[in-house]
Amino acid sequence: MISNQQNEVNKRRTFAIISHPDAGKTTITEQLLLFGGAIRNAGTVKGKKSGHFAKSDWMDIEKQRGISVTSSVMQFDYDDKRVNILDTPGHEDFSEDTYRTLMAVDSAVMVIDSAKGIEAQTKKLFQVCRMRGIPIFTFINKLDRDGREPLDLLEELEEVLEIESYPMNWPIGMGKGFEGLYDIFHQRVELYRPERYDGERFLPLDDAGDIDAGHPLHANSLFSQVMEDVELLVEAGNEFSEEKIAAGELTPVFFGSALTNFGVQTFLETFLQFAPQPSGHQTKDGGQVSPYDSEFSGFIFKIQANMNPAHRDRIAFVRICSGTFERGMDVQLERTGKKIKLSNSTQFMADSRENVETAVAGDIIGLYDTGTYQIGDTIYTGKSSVAFEDLPQFTPELFMKVTAKNVMKQKSFYKGLYQLVQEGAVQLYKTYLSGDFILGAVGQLQFEVFKHRMLNEYNTEVIMEPMGSKIARWIDPDDLDERMSSSRNILAKDRFDQPLFLFENQFAMRWFADKYPDVELKSLL
Ligand code: G4P
Repeated sequence: MISNQQNEVNKRRTFAIISHPDAGKTTITEQLLLFGGAIRNAGTVKGKKSGHFAKSDWMDIEKQRGISVTSSVMQFDYDDKRVNILDTPGHEDFSEDTYRTLMAVDSAVMVIDSAKGIEAQTKKLFQVCRMRGIPIFTFINKLDRDGREPLDLLEELEEVLEIESYPMNWPIGMGKGFEGLYDIFHQRVELYRPERYDGERFLPLDDAGDIDAGHPLHANSLFSQVMEDVELLVEAGNEFSEEKIAAGELTPVFFGSALTNFGVQTFLETFLQFAPQPSGHQTKDGGQVSPYDSEFSGFIFKIQANMNPAHRDRIAFVRICSGTFERGMDVQLERTGKKIKLSNSTQFMADSRENVETAVAGDIIGLYDTGTYQIGDTIYTGKSSVAFEDLPQFTPELFMKVTAKNVMKQKSFYKGLYQLVQEGAVQLYKTYLSGDFILGAVGQLQFEVFKHRMLNEYNTEVIMEPMGSKIARWIDPDDLDERMSSSRNILAKDRFDQPLFLFENQFAMRWFADKYPDVELKSLL
């Protein structure tokens, strides 16, 4: 018999939406939350639009930027499934946490602007998902506007991202001439403006893939064109394969318009059908923890600092991997062996923060943290110790030289610097020659958070000098020769004492590679 815990795990669908800023991630998220009944009005997720600010739980930086902390994780029920959407902040709010969040999901939805195609940030986030081999679903947005040819967009997906695609539906026209979707998967046409016709939203397709010859759309040349395109796609395109979707080798592609709420519900329902439930998690010793295990386990993938400016607490986000979380339970922190009572835990909803009583694998809980946790920590119950695999480190692209403003504050400067680095807030390098400290990040926000926390938590004002973007590449310590350092690169070591070069640009890197062909230049993810 299937246990209650198993039943609950099987209902979970935990995913992130990845996109380049402005592709429509927030708009889609809001539509999904509206379907799930988690919010009542659009505009709730992005505080800056609606002016809805949560009361006290805002970090100063967040307040200025208008990011809602409560939107970090959104949960709702739909079609007997419990859906967890994890936010992946973009733009100026982009940080390593954005990447790390992708370590905590079971699938991803990639939103693409139909006029722009694959953009830089989408590509980076896609690569992290690809590395994990999780299923990726694609939503091509803004069909109510003129965009690129759908075939062109599919080709780009395959060429740039090197993933096979399968169109679940196909747009009939676009922009002003948008008529709706030819739904290949459900064998029906979904009309964009049914009120223009007889009000019927769905038109069934016959065996030949055609609609009723009496329907006015039948005479529209756009429709016959789509029928031809679809025939070609079905004959010459990839086959639909659930196995390939599950392995992240084929992405089902949906078209739609989030702003006009068209195609989003069909997407959601189909997505929930194919998106995976939580599966086993790999441990450091090569084992696996099943989501159905009765002992609790989870790992910390994100730490959000100073939610409440009056206190120094932070929130550590835990992805549950097994067992059932109960408020007040005792767990062990694997890194230190310390026992911790999880009494203050919180679950995030779109417009309210609620205390969570129970949660299972796939769910995300937030733990109040006063400096106990680090990114990548495992917590567990039971006699046998569990340590999940380390979270990957990501190659930083932005760099700052950092020093303490007041030399008298060196001690707290070092303390803060090392603690924040260990916690995963920023990366730290030390130059070989001068011993200068350099901070590395994937997003500007990480530097701001660092500066803010150094001042507020370690009472140290820091001076940060931007070094612009650099290309970081690691080398084998055996290959190291200090003479390799030149005016076009900086030789440094990371906090694990591994040597790396920070190259000024691609040109400088290529020059180096030509000069030292035997030295392998390695990036992180
Ligand atoms: P993001 O979270 O990915 O950054 O994107 P967001 O949803 O905020 O959308 C970016 C802009 O694109 C918004 O317009 C939004 O209204 C628009 N948008 C989203 N989906 C669609 C769509 O399907 N069709 C069209 N035509 N536009 C869409 P904005 O003017 O930047 O913001 P707003 O202040 O009007 O909301």
